[in-house]
Amino acid sequence: MTPDSQALLARGLAQFTGDLPLPAGGLHAAVAVSPLAHAAFGRVETTAACAEPGVVAVLTAADIPGLNDIGNLFHDEPLLADKVVVCVGQPYALVIAESAEAARRGAQRVSADWEPRPALFDAREAFAAGALIQPPRTFALGRPDEVWSRCHAVVAGRVEIGSAEHVYLETQCALALPRDDGGLHVHSATQSPSVVQKAVAAVTGLPMHRVEIEVARLGGGFGGKEDQATLWACLAALAAWKLKRPVRIRPDRREDMRITGKRHPYSADYRLGVDADGRFLAYEAFLYQNAGCSADLSTAILERSLFHAASAYFIPNVRVTAASCRTNLPSNTAFRGFGAPQAVFVLEAAIREAARALQLSPHVLQQRNLLRDGDTLPYGMQPDRVRARACWQALENRFRPEEHRRDIEAWNAVNPRYRRGMALIPVCFGIGFTATLLNQAEALAHVYADGSVSVTTGAVEMGQGVHDKIRAVVAHTLGLTRDRIHVETTSTLRVANVSPTAASTGADLNGEAAHQACLTIRRGLAPVAASMLGVPVESVTFAENWISTADQELALSWESLVAEAYARRVSLSALAHYATPGLSFNHASNTGKPFAYHVYGAALIEGTVDALRGTGRIDRVSVVHDCGQSLDEQTDRGQIEGAVVQGIGWMTSEDIRHDAQGRLLSDSLASYKIPDLRSAPEMDVVLLEDADNPPGVLNSKAVGEPPLIYGLGAYFALLDAMSSLRPDVRPEYRTPMSSERIFTWLYPDEPV
Ligand code: MTE
Ligand code: HPA
Ligand code: MOS
Repeated sequence: MTPDSQALLARGLAQFTGDLPLPAGGLHAAVAVSPLAHAAFGRVETTAACAEPGVVAVLTAADIPGLNDIGNLFHDEPLLADKVVVCVGQPYALVIAESAEAARRGAQRVSADWEPRPALFDAREAFAAGALIQPPRTFALGRPDEVWSRCHAVVAGRVEIGSAEHVYLETQCALALPRDDGGLHVHSATQSPSVVQKAVAAVTGLPMHRVEIEVARLGGGFGGKEDQATLWACLAALAAWKLKRPVRIRPDRREDMRITGKRHPYSADYRLGVDADGRFLAYEAFLYQNAGCSADLSTAILERSLFHAASAYFIPNVRVTAASCRTNLPSNTAFRGFGAPQAVFVLEAAIREAARALQLSPHVLQQRNLLRDGDTLPYGMQPDRVRARACWQALENRFRPEEHRRDIEAWNAVNPRYRRGMALIPVCFGIGFTATLLNQAEALAHVYADGSVSVTTGAVEMGQGVHDKIRAVVAHTLGLTRDRIHVETTSTLRVANVSPTAASTGADLNGEAAHQACLTIRRGLAPVAASMLGVPVESVTFAENWISTADQELALSWESLVAEAYARRVSLSALAHYATPGLSFNHASNTGKPFAYHVYGAALIEGTVDALRGTGRIDRVSVVHDCGQSLDEQTDRGQIEGAVVQGIGWMTSEDIRHDAQGRLLSDSLASYKIPDLRSAPEMDVVLLEDADNPPGVLNSKAVGEPPLIYGLGAYFALLDAMSSLRPDVRPEYRTPMSSERIFTWLYPDEPV
């Protein structure tokens, strides 16, 4: 029995791209990066770098045989900067050496004749200067302008949402191996093998069929390797192609933090109108997204912000506009939630302000406006089987938030130092790539003569357990125990044109394709089994490695069936394609059905502020989450818990700081504080019961990103605790709610 991926990870045996042995003659690469946020340059000075012992070659833009362009959605991203750099950390030369140390020393000695230019770092300033990735986009429903005057209360304000670093355990990495026929085999730590394949082909000038991208597993991606693994794979590929030797590139943590993009910070203005009963009548927002220096995935992320502007609520009149603003920071990129959490934060902040205005608890407002069946979202979709209220109700029944509220009030009344607070957060998250064409997948399944099964899909395993889920689907479909099935590494040679493993769709799309491939194989095997058993084909069932008749009278082992099928020259392999049915989206009207279904949930987050020290902590998170019929409960719980903690970190301790020149200050785990075991809260995760989901594979639901949104509750819980200390002060909506911010808010007159 082959150990599964999880077992390999737990035992420390799993190999990541960076663990692959460098073949004989292998070289190491490192990048020389821009010290300036914006500058022109003419000449790159490489003499000193070339003289560095161990350095084999220094490559610049001029050495690129094909296109110097690795942009995915837009063509605004060179592999190596040419004549101009647009952020600190942008690579402009590649040094290849006998050792990683020599390559780094060489990279330090590359220089250029920089001519500094003015730089922009703030999204609103970039917007004012007209520096946009694309024209702003607006999603609208109803007629907000006509209802403001009818509102009982209208609140308006501004929100600032900070960035976040992915802190995947494994830094970016690639190993490129030249093939004897001039092709390239690139081991890349990417979520998007086909995007990398296309870019490597473009940079080297090779056709895509000469470039294999292979991914064993990632030590985490979280969106950070959806688009930004491409750079490293192309650099390694360029060097391997030029030098005809294997080349590895692997930035260390600090380099990775400085060079790669992060979650998009957003600045936003909002206006929310409610009636006297607390029903939302109108909502308007303008979102300024800080895209950084290139498009990357920013426009797709912006679109998902728009899709999630109303979150899990029904608002009859909505107008939300969003602008992707070009600044001189490393290009911001996908990060779990893909723009949705930022948009949800804006609305949740607006809800807190409306609750203050109406002197109601935010929970009352939230509950009153939760989405129901028949409601329309701001992109015209009426979701099916809406479970926003079911999850909220289950949370109330199970965790009794009103009792917690009373306990907290009683506690705060007599505890001047430790103040407690709480927040509830509902979730409604659309599942599917917002770019409809990406909602397809393919799977290749082989049954070998001994009955063992091998499956390749486009799904990249990054710790989210997608390979195990696919294994569960295949086991179910073929009636086998999981130990008979092996899910292979992801390779563009075995499965082509794969969509990124992203948008939480990995198991949905690839699992369904695997299901279809196995059904094809089963359809070929069933008549063989029927003839062996001497029964009609309809009465043959596959379960637990046995093929039996409906009455269980006769049975046949899987192995003997496979052997016989082979002897009868019946195919034991299948390639299946799956495209999510029923999707469409009109980009002119911004309406349609972009998602296969939605994921729902609700969470209660409780925290404490120490008024004396000015620190905060999140004590407990209770969740009711809709996983459909879970493919693997342990995995889904792990995904929910991990996402919650990641969201809490973003909201509380993770503070990305740059200096005035655009240099990253928070560039190590000493200056950038992520959650750890001590700061993680107690967690209770309940999976919603009786939750089928026909559009999902075997009735399951995607899980990866949506629960990150519960983490937003950390901000509002701490704010709630702080408001009990200073009810007079109008709250500020600026993440993260770090201890530094809590202290300065509580003690505005103290020097920090
Ligand atoms: N979980 C782990 N352990 N590591 C990761 O990198 N990425 C998240 C989520 N959960 C991630 C993770 C993100 S951003 C996405 S989109 C999904 O997993 C991708 O995998 P899936 O589509 O198979 O859920
Ligand atoms: N989510 C994640 N990644 C993506 C998407 C999306 O909706 N669209 C394109 N890449
Ligand atoms: Mo996830 S941000 O879609 O990789």
